[in-house]
Amino acid sequence: MWRYHDLLPIDEDPKVGLHTGFTPLVHARNLGRALGLNRLYIKNDSVNHPTFSFKDRVVSVAVSKAIEFGFDTIACASTGNLANSVAAHAAEAGLKSYIFVPDGLEAGKILGTVVYGTQLLAVRGSYDDVNRLCSEIGAHHKWAFVNINIRPYYGDGSKSYGYEIAEQLGWRAPDNVIVPVAGSSLITKIWKAFHEFEMLGLIDSVPTKVFAAQATGCSPVTTAIKNGTDMIKPVKPDTIAKSIAIGNPADGYYGVKTANESGGYGEDISDPEIVEAMKLLAETEGIFTETAGGVTVGVTQKLVKQGRIKPDELTVICVTGNGLKTQEALAGCYEKPTVIEPHIDNFEEVFANSMTV
Ligand SMILES: Cc1ncc(COP(=O)(O)O)c(C=O)c1O
Repeated sequence: MWRYHDLLPIDEDPKVGLHTGFTPLVHARNLGRALGLNRLYIKNDSVNHPTFSFKDRVVSVAVSKAIEFGFDTIACASTGNLANSVAAHAAEAGLKSYIFVPDGLEAGKILGTVVYGTQLLAVRGSYDDVNRLCSEIGAHHKWAFVNINIRPYYGDGSKSYGYEIAEQLGWRAPDNVIVPVAGSSLITKIWKAFHEFEMLGLIDSVPTKVFAAQATGCSPVTTAIKNGTDMIKPVKPDTIAKSIAIGNPADGYYGVKTANESGGYGEDISDPEIVEAMKLLAETEGIFTETAGGVTVGVTQKLVKQGRIKPDELTVICVTGNGLKTQEALAGCYEKPTVIEPHIDNFEEVFANSMTV
């Protein structure tokens, strides 16, 4: 992502995350066939470096900036992916870190944080409780809370995701982009990225409709869009898509504005639909995404059925996190594998009785 250093808000050379970004833009022909889309792409940050989500982009910028400012301690309020990334980058930089998450997160998100030798606290309540508490802690401790007191730098790290989409499409912006929404930062920064490229003459125009995607169990932004209002009504999250379960989104107003100004829309899907969409992406493209990616794939399916996305339009689905971190979402979906003896007869017997050819 540092090919875009000049467009990112740090003054010196990056201090961490040198290998973050430039993830694959996959031409998703199989998924496209399943959804009825002829020109479908997936921007696949489930393989981002070092912690397998788009949050590595925002943290690379935020921690580099925190070091420029002279902070020796990094902190965050997180729904999981940010926790992983802050802990990893603090370790890389040799800085102390404090991470705050809601209790009840997936095991992969917890282990994928503590392994980096950080201080992790689980707060009883939702992400919104965690965030409010961290704002208070930030007033008492001189720590760089990446998504609170140095949020503008963190936010602009997301622009790299949009720059890469445009570059990888051959220097053009797509007709549609479907973005998972939590605090609503990423959706606004993809839009900002396309417009900066237009301003710089790197692309001709921005025809892009930006679609906000949420889980029905936490959909304050898509509900506002559907209701034609820019007033976000906070909700108490109740969904398996924990990484995007923010009931009172910091940039929600701007998320709604982005979708509306671009001519896009907002849509949400239920938890069972999220699981089906995760499976569909895995079975068609060989990409195992976390729940947030299930949300964008499932919402795209819904938008196609509604006629809001047309078959020949150039469409990009944002896949922002890795499925190995949210295995609980698929609990009970699959039986344990059959165990056989290491003998050909045993294999042939099982093959004849139960395996499909
Ligand atoms: C995997 C994933 N996708 C998308 C988002 C949404 O990001 P934003 O808060 O910028 O809307 C998050 C936020 O934590 C996330 O973890």
